[in-house]
Amino acid sequence: MAKRALIYQIYPASFGNLNFITSKIPSIAKNIQPDYIWLSPFFKSPWQEGGYDVADYKEVDQRFGDLTDLKKLVFVAEQHGIKILLDLVLNHTSVEHEWFQKSRCRDPWYADYYIWLDKPLNWQSFFGGPAYEYDCIRGQYYLHLFDKSQPDLNFENPRVTQEFQKIIKFWTDLGIAGFRVDSANVLSENKLRRGYLPRIPGFFNYFQTKRTVQVLDRLLGGNKLFAIAEPVGGVFLSFTKFRELTRHIFDAAFNVGTLDIADTVLSDKASSVPVRYKKWFRKLARWSVEPSFSLAIESHDAPRAPSRFDTDPKILAMLQFLLPANYPCVYQGQEIGTKNPELGDNIHNYPGVLSHAIYQQLLRSGKSKKDAMKIVKKVSRDNARQPLDWSAFASQAKQPDSVLNFYRKLTALWRTDPVLTCGNLKVKKTTKSGVFDFERRYHSQIYQVHLDFSGKTTSTLAGPHGIILSSKPDQIIPRK
Ligand code: GLC
Repeated sequence: MAKRALIYQIYPASFGNLNFITSKIPSIAKNIQPDYIWLSPFFKSPWQEGGYDVADYKEVDQRFGDLTDLKKLVFVAEQHGIKILLDLVLNHTSVEHEWFQKSRCRDPWYADYYIWLDKPLNWQSFFGGPAYEYDCIRGQYYLHLFDKSQPDLNFENPRVTQEFQKIIKFWTDLGIAGFRVDSANVLSENKLRRGYLPRIPGFFNYFQTKRTVQVLDRLLGGNKLFAIAEPVGGVFLSFTKFRELTRHIFDAAFNVGTLDIADTVLSDKASSVPVRYKKWFRKLARWSVEPSFSLAIESHDAPRAPSRFDTDPKILAMLQFLLPANYPCVYQGQEIGTKNPELGDNIHNYPGVLSHAIYQQLLRSGKSKKDAMKIVKKVSRDNARQPLDWSAFASQAKQPDSVLNFYRKLTALWRTDPVLTCGNLKVKKTTKSGVFDFERRYHSQIYQVHLDFSGKTTSTLAGPHGIILSSKPDQIIPRK
């Protein structure tokens, strides 16, 4: 049987601090029983970009606690059979990181830690706007593929790789089981190119992929850590190519394209283009048979799925756990069917830089403030970064038909049922209106899955003896 693992993602700011996360581990274990919990960054950070702007990789940000709290978290998780993964943000640091502060002053040791140019290229950052920013202290431009608060590290400099070798050792000595590697495919740039980064054909022409793979190999190859890659771009071709080159380094990989239901970047367009179900289902079916594929339908980078699809969270859960993907990743709160909160019509209620970038872009394109806000409300990833509704966990635990109890049943089936753990996939039907029928077959046993995102018919998992799971529970006929 292929290797499999269930991952549960936590965005620490939604929990408040590390001790609070620790206090929730017993119930996470009971509800989802994940093999791994991946913690998004909790490191020292000025929090310009949700913690993905790291100012010190070996320090817990004060707001979350300290290293002793983290050790406790690792210990309690282990007692519940869960291992901890950290987010390894390799591509960039915060401008406040000591390395950048020294680099901009041309300290000889650090001068080449970042990518400095006298004349900027015309690259656009993933967040929109120029990817090169002038630094008046150094008198040169630095590259930032993401926000300008996140200067890109220069992996041509072996010292940078050595720094991360030390960081990885520091965390693994502390009992960390592995890493989710942020923006793993864009570590090394091809500096001679001019052009525009996001969603371009030939994405990989902009990066020195072989060099990136060498760096990743040096950092993560040949050890016992669990490593899961987040290649950015979301294009199937680039994802496949990257996977081929890094199979020996990563146990699993996400594809951000699975979050992108409308086949547009998660930006202004995502709200105005109707969901292309047929295309999306086919994409998921094609990708989910890849043995190391990690299927995520939510994350800290996308609004809540039940709101985006306007559908029953149970149907989304069935999609995630009945397709054959070996590394499903559940985002915090998915298991109670969390929807987008009401963050209001004021852009200042949206702390993320990306929400502001989208808003400004919409105003520049001629939208009124009101119309721009309507879109930001829908597409902002700040929707997924809110505190969780803890009382809903308690009340749903008591209701047999709740989303939470549905998750409990579904994840237990995913873990133990041979048809789901080993069965082949055969797609039977996909429609534009949101019907996805497929079959899972293991030897002579066949399960039929019927999903209907429109809600017009009941979504079901049926075995040879009747319905095993149904989005409308009153229709379940007990299995003989
Ligand atoms: C990854 C993270 C995202 C972040 C970006 C830059 O894609 O998931 O939240 O904005 O990297 O660090």
